[in-house]
Amino acid sequence: MPSTTTKRVLLAAPRGYCAGVDRAVIAVEKALELHGAPIYVRKEIVHNKYVVETLSERGAIFVNETDEVPEGARVVFSAHGVSPAVRQSADARGLLAIDATCPLVTKVHKEAVRFAKAEQTILLIGHDGHEEVEGTAGEAPEHTIVVNSPEEADRVEVPDPDNVVWLSQTTLSVDETMDTVRRLRERFPNLQDPPSDDICYATQNRQVAVKKLAPECDLVIVVGSANSSNSVRLVEVALQAGATSSYRVDTYKEIDESWFEGVETVGLTSGASVPEILVKDVIGYLAERGYETVEEVRTATEDLMFSLPREIRADMKARA
Ligand code: F3S
Repeated sequence: MPSTTTKRVLLAAPRGYCAGVDRAVIAVEKALELHGAPIYVRKEIVHNKYVVETLSERGAIFVNETDEVPEGARVVFSAHGVSPAVRQSADARGLLAIDATCPLVTKVHKEAVRFAKAEQTILLIGHDGHEEVEGTAGEAPEHTIVVNSPEEADRVEVPDPDNVVWLSQTTLSVDETMDTVRRLRERFPNLQDPPSDDICYATQNRQVAVKKLAPECDLVIVVGSANSSNSVRLVEVALQAGATSSYRVDTYKEIDESWFEGVETVGLTSGASVPEILVKDVIGYLAERGYETVEEVRTATEDLMFSLPREIRADMKARA
């Protein structure tokens, strides 16, 4: 009897590593190669458990703050960026800093500095406590107010309602951010926009791809860690776009068999800090359960690459 199964997987593209994550991970690998272990890394280099564990096995030591790093040692700043206070504390300890801040985060830092110099109040849309928000807000703490949600937009108070500008974390939901901006503008009609999108290309592309496949899916699996903002957003976007259910997993081992009851079409994507091997594992897991047909749903092609941090480039040149 021919099989009557209609089980299939819709695989989002783009998914996984963005240019900023790729650069940050290679920066740690190169630092280990050039200088040997240990290499200290302030915070998780990117928000992915597997990446952090793999680099730890190779000799990276992850710390929360620079005062945990021995004086004079090498420390890598993560892709999420750091505030000037962190740079100063690293300098004070004589640390050899390698800055793996994503250039698209640096762009937002520069905007914050510029607006603060112009004495504007910056409404920074983002999640309080997220490392990127701490870093960006730290550029201009006196001028920055974090707006966590559309609801907070209705309550936030500013010194001069006619002198406000908004910026955002790079990894938010595009739709929710636009809702927050709309609500801010209702209260502050002269609210100034940033010069260009702060939500980065990778975050946007992954959301567009998952939006396209979600309406056809009974279940969307997002591979990514719990502290990865853009991965968590992909679950929300999938549900909003019509997926019947959606879950985030670090690896295939966290998938629950009960999710597949009555499921014919599974959507699959991964956050910007997720290596492709973890997605392949999920595809293997799904194939074993009858979801053997994999169709790619591509909404964009990405070819952006960033050059390595200048400290690494200089060290590589010196060794050549
Ligand atoms: Fe950079 Fe966006 Fe990736 S800000 S680290 S390109 S998610």
